Amino acid sequence: MTLHRAAELLAGARHGLALTGAGISAESGIPTFRGEGGLWTKYDPVKVSSIETFLADPAAYWMVSRERGRVALAARPNPGHVALAALEAAGHIVAVVTQNTDGLHQESGSSRVLELHGSGRTVECLDCGRREPRSAVQERLDTEMPPRCPHCGGTVLKPTVVLFGEPMPAAPMQEAFALAAEADVMLVVGSSLVVYPAADVPFVALRSGARMIVINAEPTPFDRLAEVVIHGRSGEVLPEIARLIDA
Ligand code: APR
Ligand code: ZN
Repeated sequence: MTLHRAAELLAGARHGLALTGAGISAESGIPTFRGEGGLWTKYDPVKVSSIETFLADPAAYWMVSRERGRVALAARPNPGHVALAALEAAGHIVAVVTQNTDGLHQESGSSRVLELHGSGRTVECLDCGRREPRSAVQERLDTEMPPRCPHCGGTVLKPTVVLFGEPMPAAPMQEAFALAAEADVMLVVGSSLVVYPAADVPFVALRSGARMIVINAEPTPFDRLAEVVIHGRSGEVLPEIARLIDA
């Protein structure tokens, strides 16, 4: 039974590693990018989420980000996040590598979280470098579009997330690939695994002999490489696996 096999692999893991994507936050109400109802089914990602188009027209970016930010700020961790934090606390995984920028892993108690695509919880003024919480900027978006820096008046404020065409943050990347190289169990949750270099993390783990578990609502390109594939909702599957481990 795949759930039992996943529980067995994680229970015996000494260097378990998790990689998460937007799917783990879907049950917190944050739309995914691809798949049913995904953000990129409504907008062209390069048009609304690349550094070139952002710098050319920050207001266009903020018009899309305003709604997504409101939803993300209102979102709370779901049982999938909580189960991952419990797996880390019990030592079955050593860290969560995430493509998400919503901060819900940290909020649910995961302590070692590597944010490959940055964090949407902070906004930086590209003119003076001043940073402020996204929640403060969110409040101004109905009257200030694009938002203005309260410190220098600059109008190019950017969430500290990685846009298409931007380099990935070096430190989390290095740490994620180092952990993948020594992982014995690679748990991938809620990602379509089509965006690189994040999708290289499970490749590195597999090359180092890790056994892979994929939990996703729909098939991924990595399913054929995984020892366990569970097509389901992470908010149901992860707590069930955590329960079986404790059973
Ligand atoms: N439980 C498990 N999986 C789910 C759930 C759920 N409740 N809901 C949706 N999914 C799956 C979808 O089937 C989809 O395959 O989660 C996956 C989410 O895939 P994407 O939307 O592509 O998200 P992600 O893989 O994180 O995208 C990577 O692309 O646009 C960039 O920077 C963005 O970080 C993002 C990156
Ligand atoms: Zn400024």
